[in-house]
Amino acid sequence: MSVLDIPELALVALVGVSGSGKSTFARRHFAPSQVLSSDAFRAMVADDENDQSASADAFDALHYVAGKRLRAGRLTVVDATNLQPHARAALVRVAREHDVLPVAVVLDVPEALAWERTDARADRTFGRQVLARMSRDLRRSYAQLAREGFRKVHVLRGVDEIEAAEIRYERLF
Ligand code: GTP
Ligand code: MG
Repeated sequence: MSVLDIPELALVALVGVSGSGKSTFARRHFAPSQVLSSDAFRAMVADDENDQSASADAFDALHYVAGKRLRAGRLTVVDATNLQPHARAALVRVAREHDVLPVAVVLDVPEALAWERTDARADRTFGRQVLARMSRDLRRSYAQLAREGFRKVHVLRGVDEIEAAEIRYERLF
């Protein structure tokens, strides 16, 4: 069993390609109201959770709500791929602005499995090449994550490790 130590007040950034199991992990370990998902925010601002042209507005809104939650002392989980340094930098910034610790949880599954899962979803229509690019971005992310300001970077490799993970909350005071 992997135990993930997470400060009781944290901004948790899930990191992983499409089909890595981020939303499933978030549902299993956190209350629905603690999870801000980019899909939900795209739907909120554009009526379509897959409308990539709505991403800028969706993330603006997501960051705004994250800030409100952190200011109120509420643990917040961001369910988005978070594969790009600029996406993660925005989360580190929001956390810092509210004196909250940013933590990353990386879900790393074999690309073939992620593709099998994504291909099976009617609501995911992008091609294999898009997933391949996400996988490259993930590989690159490892070196970057360490120096982006995350207090902790937890890496879960493979389905077994992801399924066996437990979260342990660290008291801050
Ligand atoms: P995107 O939202 O496209 O970025 O994907 P995601 O990372 O949120 O993946 P999601 O949690 O939606 O998982 C995709 C599919 O994989 C789900 O429909 C599940 O059936 C399956 N799945 C996810 N996590 C697990 C897991 O831990 N174990 C098993 N057996 N299946 C999983
Ligand atoms: Mg998801």
